[in-house]
Amino acid sequence: MTQLTLITYPDPRLRDKSKPVEQVDDTIRQILSDMLETMYACNGIGLAAVQVGILKRMLVIDVEQDEDGNPGTPIKMVNPEIIWHSDQEKGFEEGCLSFPGQYAEVERPAEVKIQYQDEQGELRTLHAKDMLSVCVQHEIDHLNGVTFPDHLSRIKRDMIQRKVKKVMKAEIE
Ligand code: CO
Repeated sequence: MTQLTLITYPDPRLRDKSKPVEQVDDTIRQILSDMLETMYACNGIGLAAVQVGILKRMLVIDVEQDEDGNPGTPIKMVNPEIIWHSDQEKGFEEGCLSFPGQYAEVERPAEVKIQYQDEQGELRTLHAKDMLSVCVQHEIDHLNGVTFPDHLSRIKRDMIQRKVKKVMKAEIE
Protein backbone atom coordinates (compact mmCIF):
# COMPACT_ATOMS: atom_id res chain seq x y z
CA MET A 1 0.00 0.00 0.00
CA THR A 2 1.08 3.53 -0.68
CA GLN A 3 0.28 6.72 1.13
CA LEU A 4 -1.03 9.32 -1.30
CA THR A 5 -0.45 13.09 -1.20
CA LEU A 6 -3.36 15.20 0.02
CA ILE A 7 -4.38 18.32 -1.83
CA THR A 8 -5.58 21.29 0.21
CA TYR A 9 -7.49 24.51 -0.35
CA PRO A 10 -7.06 26.57 -2.58
CA ASP A 11 -6.06 23.80 -5.03
CA PRO A 12 -8.48 24.37 -7.95
CA ARG A 13 -9.09 20.61 -8.35
CA LEU A 14 -11.24 20.75 -5.19
CA ARG A 15 -13.77 22.66 -7.34
CA ASP A 16 -13.87 20.07 -10.14
CA LYS A 17 -16.64 17.55 -10.63
CA SER A 18 -15.33 13.96 -10.46
CA LYS A 19 -16.09 11.50 -13.27
CA PRO A 20 -17.96 8.20 -12.80
CA VAL A 21 -15.87 5.05 -12.44
CA GLU A 22 -16.69 2.89 -15.46
CA GLN A 23 -15.33 -0.38 -14.24
CA VAL A 24 -14.35 -1.48 -10.75
CA ASP A 25 -11.06 -3.26 -11.44
CA ASP A 26 -7.75 -3.92 -9.68
CA THR A 27 -6.55 -0.36 -10.32
CA ILE A 28 -9.65 1.04 -8.61
CA ARG A 29 -9.30 -1.44 -5.72
CA GLN A 30 -5.66 -0.40 -5.28
CA ILE A 31 -6.59 3.30 -5.20
CA LEU A 32 -9.33 2.61 -2.63
CA SER A 33 -6.95 0.79 -0.29
CA ASP A 34 -4.29 3.49 -0.72
CA MET A 35 -6.94 6.12 0.06
CA LEU A 36 -7.90 4.26 3.22
CA GLU A 37 -4.28 4.07 4.33
CA THR A 38 -3.85 7.78 3.63
CA MET A 39 -7.02 8.62 5.56
CA TYR A 40 -5.89 6.67 8.64
CA ALA A 41 -2.41 8.20 8.48
CA CYS A 42 -3.95 11.70 8.46
CA ASN A 43 -6.40 10.85 11.29
CA GLY A 44 -9.37 11.45 9.02
CA ILE A 45 -12.77 9.74 9.12
CA GLY A 46 -13.49 10.19 5.40
CA LEU A 47 -11.63 10.89 2.18
CA ALA A 48 -12.79 11.50 -1.39
CA ALA A 49 -10.53 10.57 -4.34
CA VAL A 50 -10.33 14.21 -5.48
CA GLN A 51 -8.52 14.98 -2.21
CA VAL A 52 -5.60 12.89 -3.45
CA GLY A 53 -5.88 14.44 -6.91
CA ILE A 54 -7.87 11.61 -8.52
CA LEU A 55 -11.02 12.97 -10.16
CA LYS A 56 -13.08 9.80 -9.93
CA ARG A 57 -16.32 9.24 -8.02
CA MET A 58 -15.03 7.19 -5.12
CA LEU A 59 -14.61 7.67 -1.40
CA VAL A 60 -13.61 5.90 1.80
CA ILE A 61 -15.05 6.31 5.30
CA ASP A 62 -14.46 4.91 8.76
CA VAL A 63 -16.37 6.62 11.56
CA GLU A 64 -15.70 3.84 14.05
CA GLN A 65 -11.96 4.12 14.65
CA ASP A 66 -10.87 3.91 18.27
CA GLU A 67 -9.00 6.69 20.08
CA ASP A 68 -5.64 5.41 18.84
CA GLY A 69 -6.84 5.49 15.24
CA ASN A 70 -7.12 1.71 14.86
CA PRO A 71 -9.48 0.76 12.01
CA GLY A 72 -13.13 0.20 12.93
CA THR A 73 -15.51 -0.38 10.02
CA PRO A 74 -13.97 0.86 6.78
CA ILE A 75 -16.43 1.51 3.94
CA LYS A 76 -15.34 1.92 0.32
CA MET A 77 -17.81 3.47 -2.11
CA VAL A 78 -17.68 3.76 -5.88
CA ASN A 79 -20.17 5.99 -7.76
CA PRO A 80 -22.22 6.84 -4.62
CA GLU A 81 -25.57 8.62 -5.05
CA ILE A 82 -27.95 10.00 -2.45
CA ILE A 83 -31.27 8.32 -3.30
CA TRP A 84 -33.23 9.62 -0.28
CA HIS A 85 -32.75 12.13 2.51
CA SER A 86 -34.80 12.95 5.61
CA ASP A 87 -36.61 16.29 5.77
CA GLN A 88 -35.24 16.79 9.22
CA GLU A 89 -31.85 18.49 9.36
CA LYS A 90 -29.15 18.36 11.98
CA GLY A 91 -26.11 20.51 12.73
CA PHE A 92 -22.74 18.89 13.23
CA GLU A 93 -19.23 20.27 13.64
CA GLU A 94 -17.29 19.34 10.51
CA GLY A 95 -13.67 19.49 9.52
CA CYS A 96 -11.86 18.43 6.35
CA LEU A 97 -8.36 17.12 5.59
CA SER A 98 -8.23 19.67 2.74
CA PHE A 99 -8.88 22.53 5.20
CA PRO A 100 -6.37 21.71 7.97
CA GLY A 101 -7.31 22.89 11.43
CA GLN A 102 -10.67 24.40 10.39
CA TYR A 103 -14.02 23.38 11.91
CA ALA A 104 -17.56 24.73 11.67
CA GLU A 105 -21.09 23.55 12.26
CA VAL A 106 -22.89 22.52 9.06
CA GLU A 107 -26.62 21.75 8.73
CA ARG A 108 -27.48 18.70 6.62
CA PRO A 109 -30.30 16.16 6.37
CA ALA A 110 -30.10 13.96 9.47
CA GLU A 111 -30.42 10.68 7.56
CA VAL A 112 -29.67 9.61 4.00
CA LYS A 113 -29.88 6.52 1.86
CA ILE A 114 -26.96 5.96 -0.47
CA GLN A 115 -26.69 3.68 -3.46
CA TYR A 116 -23.14 2.79 -4.45
CA GLN A 117 -20.92 0.06 -5.84
CA ASP A 118 -18.63 -1.82 -3.47
CA GLU A 119 -15.07 -2.79 -4.35
CA GLN A 120 -16.35 -5.83 -6.25
CA GLY A 121 -18.59 -3.60 -8.36
CA GLU A 122 -21.75 -4.91 -6.62
CA LEU A 123 -24.61 -2.46 -6.16
CA ARG A 124 -25.41 -1.77 -2.50
CA THR A 125 -27.54 0.57 -0.43
CA LEU A 126 -26.72 2.09 2.92
CA HIS A 127 -29.05 3.88 5.32
CA ALA A 128 -26.80 6.31 7.17
CA LYS A 129 -27.55 8.16 10.40
CA ASP A 130 -25.56 10.30 12.83
CA MET A 131 -21.86 10.73 12.10
CA LEU A 132 -21.92 8.31 9.16
CA SER A 133 -24.66 10.38 7.51
CA VAL A 134 -22.68 13.60 7.99
CA CYS A 135 -19.50 12.03 6.70
CA VAL A 136 -20.97 10.42 3.59
CA GLN A 137 -22.75 13.65 2.58
CA HIS A 138 -19.53 15.63 3.12
CA GLU A 139 -17.56 13.19 0.91
CA ILE A 140 -20.20 13.08 -1.85
CA ASP A 141 -20.08 16.90 -1.88
CA HIS A 142 -16.35 16.62 -2.70
CA LEU A 143 -17.20 14.54 -5.79
CA ASN A 144 -19.33 17.48 -6.97
CA GLY A 145 -16.67 20.10 -6.29
CA VAL A 146 -18.36 21.28 -3.10
CA THR A 147 -16.49 21.74 0.18
CA PHE A 148 -17.93 22.20 3.68
CA PRO A 149 -17.34 25.98 3.91
CA ASP A 150 -19.72 26.33 0.91
CA HIS A 151 -22.57 25.49 3.33
CA LEU A 152 -21.69 28.41 5.62
CA SER A 153 -22.45 32.11 5.51
CA ARG A 154 -20.14 34.16 3.34
CA ILE A 155 -18.43 35.70 6.37
CA LYS A 156 -17.65 32.34 7.96
CA ARG A 157 -16.54 30.89 4.63
CA ASP A 158 -14.15 33.78 3.94
CA MET A 159 -12.72 33.44 7.42
CA ILE A 160 -12.01 29.71 7.01
CA GLN A 161 -10.49 30.20 3.56
CA ARG A 162 -8.25 32.98 4.85
CA LYS A 163 -7.15 30.98 7.87
CA VAL A 164 -6.31 27.87 5.89
CA LYS A 165 -4.14 29.88 3.49
CA LYS A 166 -2.29 31.22 6.52
CA VAL A 167 -1.82 27.74 8.01
CA MET A 168 -0.50 26.36 4.71
CA LYS A 169 1.85 29.32 4.24
CA ALA A 170 3.22 28.85 7.77
CA GLU A 171 3.89 25.16 6.98
CA ILE A 172 5.85 25.97 3.85
CA GLU A 173 8.01 28.66 5.48
CO1 CO B 1 -13.53 16.99 3.24
